[in-house]
Amino acid sequence: METLLLLLIVFPLLQNVDSRYHYHKSNPNPIPPPAPAAAAAAYNAPIASPEESPIPSDPSYNGPAPSQPRNTSSCIFDVTDFGAVGDGASDETGAFRDAWKAACQVENGVVLAPSDMVFTITSTIFSGPCQPGLVFQIDGVLMPPDGPECWPKSDSNKQWIVFYRMDTMTFTGTGTIEGNGQKWWDLPCKPHKGPNGSTLPGPCDSPAMIRFFMSSNLVVTGLRIQNSPQFHMKFDGCEGVLIDKLSISSPKLSPNTDGIHIENTKSVGIYNSVIANGDDCISIGTGCSDVDIEAVTCGPSHGISIGSLGVHNSRACVSNITVRNAVIKDSDNGLRIKTWQGGTGSVSSLTFENIQMENVRNCVIIDQYYCLTKACRNETSAVYLTDVTYRNIKGTYDVRSPPIHFACSDTIACTNITMSEVELLPYEGVLVDDPFCWNAYGVQETLTIPPIDCLQDGMPESLGENSLPGC
Ligand SMILES: *[C@@H]1O[C@H](CO)[C@@H](O)[C@H](O)[C@H]1NC(C)=O
Ligand SMILES: *[C@@H]1O[C@H](CO)[C@@H](O)[C@H](O)[C@H]1NC(C)=O
Ligand SMILES: *[C@@H]1O[C@H](CO)[C@@H](O)[C@H](O)[C@H]1NC(C)=O
Ligand SMILES: *[C@@H]1O[C@H](CO)[C@@H](O)[C@H](O)[C@H]1NC(C)=O
Ligand SMILES: *[C@@H]1O[C@H](CO)[C@@H](O)[C@H](O)[C@H]1NC(C)=O
Repeated sequence: METLLLLLIVFPLLQNVDSRYHYHKSNPNPIPPPAPAAAAAAYNAPIASPEESPIPSDPSYNGPAPSQPRNTSSCIFDVTDFGAVGDGASDETGAFRDAWKAACQVENGVVLAPSDMVFTITSTIFSGPCQPGLVFQIDGVLMPPDGPECWPKSDSNKQWIVFYRMDTMTFTGTGTIEGNGQKWWDLPCKPHKGPNGSTLPGPCDSPAMIRFFMSSNLVVTGLRIQNSPQFHMKFDGCEGVLIDKLSISSPKLSPNTDGIHIENTKSVGIYNSVIANGDDCISIGTGCSDVDIEAVTCGPSHGISIGSLGVHNSRACVSNITVRNAVIKDSDNGLRIKTWQGGTGSVSSLTFENIQMENVRNCVIIDQYYCLTKACRNETSAVYLTDVTYRNIKGTYDVRSPPIHFACSDTIACTNITMSEVELLPYEGVLVDDPFCWNAYGVQETLTIPPIDCLQDGMPESLGENSLPGC
């Protein structure tokens, strides 16, 4: 019953995936993506109905139009027809490359890794340009070699699967992308994994699992992605990204396993997904704008993070980011903005609305003194932070850190911060009643709990030299 419902909900949503794939329905053992129930139910967020388009109705959204005519001729390139055996032990890289090459040449070509099989491939760049509408569909299990010992010496150990120069592509399936991360997390150069709990000196590169680079109009949906050696998914230089109904998971103590990282990427929607990992749930780097995040559950994790920005005196621009109807639980941070001293540029137009916190450290934090070594100098320039709204942020915090922390730059204040219905209580223990607040301007529309008395009215006398950089 649940599966049927799921199919009804998911299938009309899959761009370029047609009901012609009858074998989906007969698949005895589909791995359903987890229900986004927690986040959605908590706030009555709309759950996609079969009639609804997965593409936000926003006219400026650049993703593929759901109504474009489909080419219904058969164009499935099953990797087993290209020599893959799916036993988990063989190296099937060649079969995947060949299937990709064939699918790339036709419109709406489908590279298919069928269910009930396990495919191992080594680090691979799947390059375009291809004919539009390519679908990379994993119904079985896809995984990299098991740890650094098995990683071919000639392969990059910074990335595993890369999609490059693609336009209009869907990455989907009922299967699992298994990262085999454990042996990477246990390298002696990882924090406290050396002899007697030491950390041996690096380099300590580990591969990001899935990267999209210089691509546009991407849909990633339905998959389970887990145990990444490093970041699970990374988008750089992309435009028009729709992520829906993903499950991402790695253990709480797995280092640097960010869930979804975006940078230099515009027009992004992240919806109905559940992310548990050992680092940022979603991280947003420089050059991102028009990002909409809704009905996402994070935790354990390090929360939703913007930054770090402005490292090595660089210029950073981030604008128009919305996070709504999210749950963040058992996390080291909730909603975090972090910038380095000495950067330039700006972060503007951020809205955080209807966020439920459960046992979170630093629920709401702005840190303009971000520094990894604790030895960074204070500088006169900073990334300017303005127009940030926190509305209906409720729940519980871990008392080891104050739930609200606004540490804005000395020289360039944060401005126009709006707080409305921000009410945070201790998960256990005693109320922290001294939220930190420095050089921040804005308004409280309702009484904040715990009370903050530091938000200053109006605007500062000076915004410093680098403040309006025309990002
Ligand atoms: C559909 O795609 C196939 C394979 O690329 C192509 O041969 C055929 O001409 C296309 N048909 C239409 C109607 O576009
Ligand atoms: C680990 O610590 C113990 C006790 O402090 C010491 O005897 C031993 O030599 C240390 N081992 C290594 C590999 O540093
Ligand atoms: C902000 O981003 C959303 C998409 O998340 C878009 O619909 C909207 O038009 C953008 N607003 C501006 C002012 O660009
Ligand atoms: C930098 O400035 C902040 C805020 O004024 C202050 O708390 C901190 O001690 C300064 N750090 C250094 C290294 O001077
Ligand atoms: C303050 O920010 C809000 C959105 O966060 C925006 O609507 C408003 O125009 C800003 N006010 C000023 C004076 O810039």
